[in-house]
Amino acid sequence: MAELNIAALGMFQSDPGETDAHLRAKQSGCPVSGLGAEFDPFSEDYLVDPYPFFERARKEEPIFYSPETDCWVVMNYDDIISIFRDPDTFSAALARHPVTPLCPAAAQVRDELDIAIEPALVDESPDTHRDHRRIFGDAFTPKRLDQMDSRIRVIVNNFIDGFIADGEADLVGQMLYELPALAMFIFLGADDQDATMVKKLGSRRAIVNWGQPSQSEQVDMMGDMGRHWDFTKGLVMDAMENPGDNYLGDMVRLHQDDPSLFTVNYLINVVFVMMFAGHETTTQASANGAKHLLENRDQWEALCQNPELVPGAVEEMLRIDPSIFAWRRIATKDTEIGGFSIPAGSKILMMLGSGNHDEAVFPKGEEFDHLRSNAKRHLAFGNGAHFCMGAPLARLEMKIIFEELTRRLPHMNLAEGQDWEYVPTLIFRGVQKLRVEWDADQSHG
Ligand code: HEM
Repeated sequence: MAELNIAALGMFQSDPGETDAHLRAKQSGCPVSGLGAEFDPFSEDYLVDPYPFFERARKEEPIFYSPETDCWVVMNYDDIISIFRDPDTFSAALARHPVTPLCPAAAQVRDELDIAIEPALVDESPDTHRDHRRIFGDAFTPKRLDQMDSRIRVIVNNFIDGFIADGEADLVGQMLYELPALAMFIFLGADDQDATMVKKLGSRRAIVNWGQPSQSEQVDMMGDMGRHWDFTKGLVMDAMENPGDNYLGDMVRLHQDDPSLFTVNYLINVVFVMMFAGHETTTQASANGAKHLLENRDQWEALCQNPELVPGAVEEMLRIDPSIFAWRRIATKDTEIGGFSIPAGSKILMMLGSGNHDEAVFPKGEEFDHLRSNAKRHLAFGNGAHFCMGAPLARLEMKIIFEELTRRLPHMNLAEGQDWEYVPTLIFRGVQKLRVEWDADQSHG
């Protein structure tokens, strides 16, 4: 059986070479099917609307090998769930491994950085993940979230105040881009003056990790990484001196009471993960959600009339067009998915966006329905041991965003004639601009 070198899969490793699974696929004449050859995840058509391809794949070939990505691509809800729920067989170690191997120049910049990346929650192995997740997850308390509610609402309203008199806005550029970073900064006790800077430093990370970056983008991003790390480390070290009344302060106090729970470097790594996972995702989920809601005008109006429907609508937004629409695992041993033999070392691409439209679970899955009774079963936050730790905060942010937008701008419409542009990555899906307009005289100041 193939040996799986988990250490080679970590964040920003260079190309480990072709995987054993890839070589075996080639040697055996390759099981590449029609859909496997056709799957072109960076093509314009797919990036703009991958759902017709998903629908076809669920009918014709719900699991196939894609040579382009060197991944087994999994489309059905139940198969994805079974992968998520078996972290021993399907390791999360691949989560931050770059889809496009780092070029030598970027690898050199990386090697010269003074950073100490280690697996942290999202890509951690089950033996250490279980304990760490309990500690960091338990600290995500209702009290901490309650404290966030009124502060997020103020920020959302400040953004709306900034454009309400104009009668038009790009909701992404003028609100959704920055808002989740500000919320994350409050949650961690960071100075919100730095949010824009951190947002910029992280902006290339999605492309470099999960896209097809140019060599110069890779090199620039490695420089950003160093600055991002220094900022995160400084934040944690300051909190060690003076732990505040916030989530990071709670974690520091836990460490100081019992240093055996986790090391300071591990804490820096978790915060480093949150500094990215905690905002890019929510920005894009809210942008996709706003687009779908406004495209279904009657449902937008239903929320304007009945704000108590917003939490259910948020689940449906996360289902219909999730911001992480694909996510990876790697098989630690020879195994099987949906009757297919999968060799050890195989990379697996779980198409969360496809699972979320699977008719076996979500009847009329292509349709947006804010009253869908089981929308919350969506896969947008994953499932099982690594289920998104920040889901309660993301849900709260989205709830407030849509409560306030429907309250203050009930006459808002999508501007006509806009082209939809998406980030070119295998994993993230988010509309980059969302132009909306309204009659400024009718809006609620
Ligand atoms: C709409 C917004 C969000 C989406 C769609 C999202 C999605 C995800 C997904 C798909 C995973 C991987 C699950 C798996 O591997 O099984 C994940 C993990 C994670 N997310 Fe989120 N996330 C969001 C917001 C947040 C926020 C706001 C935070 C931080 C406050 C956060 C922190 C994390 C962490 C720490 C993990 C790793 C958990 C673990 O491995 O135990 N996420 N998220």
